[in-house]
Amino acid sequence: MMNNTARFTAQRALARPDPARDAFARDLTAALATRPRSISPKYFYDVQGSALFDRICDLPEYYPTRTEMAILRGQAGDIAAQMGPRAEIVEFGAGSCTKVRLLLDAMDAPARYLPIDISGEHLSVAAAGLRRDYPGLDVQPVVADYTQRLLLAARPPGAGQRVGFFPGSTIGNFTPAEAFYFLQVAAQVLRGGALLLGADLVKDPAVLHAAYNDAQGVTAAFNLNLLARANRELAAGFRLEQFTHHAFYNAPLQRIEMHLVSRCRQRVEVAGQLFEFAEGETLHTENSHKFTIDGLRLLAQQAGFRPGPVWTDAQHHFSVHWLHAPQ
Ligand code: AVJ
Repeated sequence: MMNNTARFTAQRALARPDPARDAFARDLTAALATRPRSISPKYFYDVQGSALFDRICDLPEYYPTRTEMAILRGQAGDIAAQMGPRAEIVEFGAGSCTKVRLLLDAMDAPARYLPIDISGEHLSVAAAGLRRDYPGLDVQPVVADYTQRLLLAARPPGAGQRVGFFPGSTIGNFTPAEAFYFLQVAAQVLRGGALLLGADLVKDPAVLHAAYNDAQGVTAAFNLNLLARANRELAAGFRLEQFTHHAFYNAPLQRIEMHLVSRCRQRVEVAGQLFEFAEGETLHTENSHKFTIDGLRLLAQQAGFRPGPVWTDAQHHFSVHWLHAPQ
């Protein structure tokens, strides 16, 4: 039995304003009220989801992370030469900040590192690790949703160029229109500098399919974590065993689609509202667009960048682009 003080404390905890949770509640209930149902993949990344994503990156089938890391490691000298001395790195969606280490190790006196991420907990742990390993580096984490706005402090005096870093092909999560908008905003924020952009390439659909349907089921757990998160944060009633992970390559649209498919007809409560799922009905949770090198360069150019060097792996699975921002 709760005494009055305990009950009061519990009610206060539930009533406590939490903008991130409110946004998730608003977007999920809106998604469930619309057909076809679809929600932004940014909600995958709570603490559990970020940890699951880190496990995806180590999967044998998930080639993007290790291929991009190999490109960055192999071309770090060329990339650092493009950056020049005392450059500042702004990373969009920094997560665990592992890839930037490959750049920092090769750079000439990096001035400052601004990792931006929506997962605050993940970010502060990662920032502490970087400060420990790079004692002279000014690390200033920014907890923000970089798809909403980009408000950054001015460059420190004496700094070189500002280099945006957007690895992992996260740009593939955007619709083509959103990607174009992001690049336009980035071109302004990075004026006088450049963007180092990682983009996954169009390839054999079997390779793509395997990368999003791993044998260990980590990608399935990552997808289903969206529902688990709703249960944790919104007191939702999703029964995870009643939904299936479904990922496939949509060749005409050049994208992997991930969905959660209802295994049966069911009713689920979310944030105090009831929603019906028909058997086979899906919630579309992610698009991961794939690019051609020329297609990406054209898009960047239309958004105001001047495309520079491109680095890729021997199998042409992944690409890293240097894009000069306007003056
Ligand atoms: C972080 C968006 C690049 O699309 O490959 C991995 C996310 N989803 N497995 C991707 C993801 C399923 C990843 N990005």
